Amino acid sequence: MSAWRPLGPGATVGVLGGGQLARMMALEARRLGLRVLVLDPDPRCGAAQVADGLVLGHFSDAEAACRLAAQVDVVTLDTEHVPAEVLRAVEAVAPCAPGSEALSLIQDRLAQRRLLHALRLPQTRWAEVNDLESLRAGLAEVGLPAVLKTRRGGYDGKGQVRVQREDQLVAAWETLGRSPCVIEAYVPFDREVSAVMARGADGAVRHWPLAENDHRRHILHTTLTPARAEATLGPRARALAEAVAARLEHIGVLCLELFLLSDGQLLVNEIAPRVHNSGHTSLGASVTSQFEQHLRAVCGLPLGDTRQPRPAVMLNLLGDLWADGPPPLERVFALPHAKLHLYGKDEPRPGRKVGHVLLLGDDPAGLLREAEALHRALGGR
Ligand SMILES: Nc1ncnc2c1ncn2[C@@H]1O[C@H](COP(=O)(O)OP(=O)(O)OP(=O)(O)O)[C@@H](O)[C@H]1O
Ligand SMILES: [Mg+2]
Repeated sequence: MSAWRPLGPGATVGVLGGGQLARMMALEARRLGLRVLVLDPDPRCGAAQVADGLVLGHFSDAEAACRLAAQVDVVTLDTEHVPAEVLRAVEAVAPCAPGSEALSLIQDRLAQRRLLHALRLPQTRWAEVNDLESLRAGLAEVGLPAVLKTRRGGYDGKGQVRVQREDQLVAAWETLGRSPCVIEAYVPFDREVSAVMARGADGAVRHWPLAENDHRRHILHTTLTPARAEATLGPRARALAEAVAARLEHIGVLCLELFLLSDGQLLVNEIAPRVHNSGHTSLGASVTSQFEQHLRAVCGLPLGDTRQPRPAVMLNLLGDLWADGPPPLERVFALPHAKLHLYGKDEPRPGRKVGHVLLLGDDPAGLLREAEALHRALGGR
């Protein structure tokens, strides 16, 4: 990879994948005077609507990705599922962050578990599954209840099945197509939190306040920042995230998803080497959003201030709310301290992230109650 020279306004950032993360990055890039070129097979994807240009193609298409790379100053990602070999081809054309080596570790749950183990970071018990024998041995090792997860391609709880009883084990593996898996001990967590941070090309780091996350059906529902446990857990969570980012020599935003147990233990659930849904409050609530910060990092610019003056809650809007036509979004506009973000998706299918609402206030518990009330008013259950 060529030396990291600072890129400023007028430079072009290429993004592999054109979902909502690329879209919000492109919106921040426009404000900064950076140009954005997106790779996506859908010319109407959320990011293409606001980017400077689009290369038509899937992120697994190395030829198309290299065509994009030839037209930009630096390449980054909307998803960690870009095949590492595609990224290796792209790296021969333009600098990439994150790089193919880090990505190949992260996109394989087994490699990720091994990486956490090598760094001696706390995680749940896990075992590798390749065949019936290792499946049974794995369950014996981690115990019941367990969660079986495919090594590759999972997101929003897809590619994972909970195993409550031993007689469900083989059927669970069958539903995952008997693909190579990791089996994990189910964690009876009190809360889920995440540490979102950025690391610059020079190794400088900045952290946002710890995020407190509530998932529904394995999909993020709300995020509160700062987490109510910020004072007690923040420093420890940030140290864990920083250890991972340093080991990966990561450039850009990185999120560490964590489980908090009732005895105060923190266990790492997974690493996301990119801007993250639980970092969305930073867009509107923090001095520097995760999207601007990511652009700063991959452009070799100094990182911005991550302080957040007031508490904030993010409520995800899933396609389910659009099942019977658009929800009454006037309920959002009626709240003067609410900010609506829609991702420009043509088909708001159930389970799909269609947008989010940011609520700004002073009382964290009150903001969470307000998010629930708004969700119900929009037709959520
Ligand atoms: N071992 C576990 N014990 C308890 N809950 C779990 C476990 N693994 C996953 N979960 C629950 O499922 C959610 C999604 O799991 P995970 O983060 O592993 O999958 P993912 O599909 O990659 O999700 P993401 O959308 O974050 O990429 C977690 O946030 C958590 O709520
Ligand atoms: Mg996750």
